[in-house]
Amino acid sequence: MIPLERILESRILIVDDQEANLLLLEKILEGEGYGHTLTVADSRQVLDLCRGFRPDLLLLDLHMPYLDGFQVMEQLRHAQVDEFLPILVLTADCSRETKLRALHIGARDFLTKPFDHLEVMTRIRNMLEVRLLQQDLLAQNRILEEKVRERTLELADTRMEVIHRLSRAAEFRDQGTGLHLLRMSRFALCLAETAGLERAHCDLILAASPMHDIGKIGIPDRILFKPGRLDADEWVIMRTHTTIGAELLAGHDSALMRAAAQIALTHHERWDGRGYPHGLKGEEIPIEGRIVALSDVFDALLSQRPYKQAWPQEDAVRVIDEDAGTAFEPRLVECFHDALPELEAIIQMLAAHLPSSSHAAAYGTGM
Ligand SMILES: [Fe+2]
Repeated sequence: MIPLERILESRILIVDDQEANLLLLEKILEGEGYGHTLTVADSRQVLDLCRGFRPDLLLLDLHMPYLDGFQVMEQLRHAQVDEFLPILVLTADCSRETKLRALHIGARDFLTKPFDHLEVMTRIRNMLEVRLLQQDLLAQNRILEEKVRERTLELADTRMEVIHRLSRAAEFRDQGTGLHLLRMSRFALCLAETAGLERAHCDLILAASPMHDIGKIGIPDRILFKPGRLDADEWVIMRTHTTIGAELLAGHDSALMRAAAQIALTHHERWDGRGYPHGLKGEEIPIEGRIVALSDVFDALLSQRPYKQAWPQEDAVRVIDEDAGTAFEPRLVECFHDALPELEAIIQMLAAHLPSSSHAAAYGTGM
């Protein structure tokens, strides 16, 4: 039940070309305690008044000069001012045809002239009660929708966190600092955007690319942590991090997991077909794999590792250029050049937010 005080707070707009009717209805409503009524005799003002006054109930005469009640209802419906605004038609014309026509274009109920005080009050109160209940329901729906939106964001956030932590577990075994994953995934996003991929596809690459080396979990320590160069047999094993990763990530039909599995499998393929594990060539390599391959190498060159210093950016760019058409798709290398200012901004932004010493310390690598 809606409390009476709340019903009496409702805004009521009365439209009738007969001043006497306006005065009578206004008097009845005020006598009952309604405090927000507005009357208008010129039906051409109704649309603006509905927008400004925002009535909870419209009492509308049918037979008026300029715009009749039917035209007013058409106008309101067309302007979509308030799709739930209840309209109570005031009419002396009780023909079935008139009623059906009025109901068809938006009237909710009728008040027959001359007005009966009790009928006026009862119908108005009933309609306002329904209106207020409907508004409560809409408000509840909005709250629920907001909660669903919040929970969905929370889930997406948790999913990203799990991905990053899982990916870091693999990188940790590879003596990484975590910064590599953050940086290369943003490089990949930037390249995907510059290459003109659709928004959703770009976001998928950003989310999936940190998992590219997850298969390193399955590489024995003696190979992964070998201080010197790997021999041929050890390389064979090292290369299986691609297939191990793909196997770990396969079997789930979400777009994210499919992209992650594909990236894990193909991020060491080369444009000229001399990559691994399958020696795919050119566009046989999925675009996600081609983008991550370039992002991964560029970031590896810029990163300090136990066996090498971080390269100056110009030198890293030169290596990418030299490998256009061999390791990397030439068009992507062009995108890489177009995106360089943005890539530099990513490098600076992450360096500012994640100073290498404290970040490394956080993961206990000492790098
Ligand atoms: Fe890798």
